[in-house]
Amino acid sequence: MSNVAVIGSQWGDEGKGKIVDWLSSRADVVVRFQGGHNAGHTLVIDGVEYKLNLLPSGIVRPGKLSIIGNGVVVDPWALLKEIQIVKEKGVKITPENLMLAENANLILPVHRALDQALEITRGNTPIGTTKRGIGPAYEDKVARRGIRVCDLAHPDLLKDKIMAMMCHHNILLKGFGAEPIDTMETYNKLMEIADDILRYAGVVWKRLDEARQDGKKILFEGAQGAMLDIDHGTYPFVTSSNTVAGQAASGSGMGPDAVKYVLGITKAYTTRVGTGPFPTEQDNEVGAFLGERGKEFGTVTGRKRRCGWFDAVLVRQTVKLCGIQGIALTKLDVLDGLDEIKICTGYELDGKTIDHLPASQIHQANVTPTYETLEGWKESTRGARSWAELPASAVKYVRRVEELIGAPVALLSTSPEREDTILMRDPFVD
Ligand code: IMP
Repeated sequence: MSNVAVIGSQWGDEGKGKIVDWLSSRADVVVRFQGGHNAGHTLVIDGVEYKLNLLPSGIVRPGKLSIIGNGVVVDPWALLKEIQIVKEKGVKITPENLMLAENANLILPVHRALDQALEITRGNTPIGTTKRGIGPAYEDKVARRGIRVCDLAHPDLLKDKIMAMMCHHNILLKGFGAEPIDTMETYNKLMEIADDILRYAGVVWKRLDEARQDGKKILFEGAQGAMLDIDHGTYPFVTSSNTVAGQAASGSGMGPDAVKYVLGITKAYTTRVGTGPFPTEQDNEVGAFLGERGKEFGTVTGRKRRCGWFDAVLVRQTVKLCGIQGIALTKLDVLDGLDEIKICTGYELDGKTIDHLPASQIHQANVTPTYETLEGWKESTRGARSWAELPASAVKYVRRVEELIGAPVALLSTSPEREDTILMRDPFVD
């Protein structure tokens, strides 16, 4: 049996929720390894809807261990609130089935305030963050002034660290013309919940090593998408963590060989929330059609997602960046009824053809996609459970996507329902 990492292969919102849920029902351990409560995964189990932001998807299934790894930034109040909401739906959450890395960094109210203030200072080109303090918390981690889960057990050290951190940030907030945050209030509020958080804290890398030695199946649950990666994404219009598959290991405290299969979740077209380059964006009736049919609104912020044609150049790039061995292709049914469907197969930049998205912000904004046009299909693919049920043109489209991105379809999802999935390869089986 192999361990699986699930990664968004575009700009997030590829429909990870359903696939991760299906996989987590077969895993023993589910681990979040990056991001924070900027993520939004919706699961529907036995008719009950769960909206998870920070908790790993395994939490809603009895007998699974859910882990929040060191690579995640944790808003402790958001975590406790989410635990409470999920518990109210009848799910048991105890230190037996939820473990939080003692070395994970915390998101504090000051990080939220900074996130808002920084977005305002960006003027006409904001990143369009979720304003949840993700970026500033990662900044503090790298600047070595972050507060970690384990610090909650040491009130004196915690107070010193908060004072040092707030001294720095309040100067900044004042400079931005924003209200400073009360240092002692932050400290007192943290002390109020310290025990509630610490009861879940533990040595994650050790627990995962034990699970591995016991032959348990581990699912690494990625959030956002590879094009939002801080190193490899459309910088600076990215999130502040590494979202590529390599992070699954370092964000949970395992060696790189722990991940045996990388599944890229890939939408049959492209969407993006927030600002930043999007070569195949269709700011026209095609985009409106995809947005409406695909119900493309953000689960965290409710924002309308930008929509466009499938960009094979971009996904081919993330297949390489993440070592994706197979994809789960989602929302194929959204394309039903179109006369013709376009796929971006290359870019033109300054009169030259290029086969990748360059790093330069200027180049990313100026690439022109080259399209290939495929015949659409009139029949419905919604709910198909075998290849035989798909119209020939839809099969052709999927096969062309595989060819262009250099990775096979392991799973094809044809509706939000769990059973409406065509399985070509079980990611957990070697
Ligand atoms: P942040 O992660 O809140 O700092 O936001 C940075 C960028 O990542 C913004 O463009 C957000 O819209 C985007 N982003 C963050 N989380 C998600 C997600 O779960 N899905 C899609 N986009 C996201």
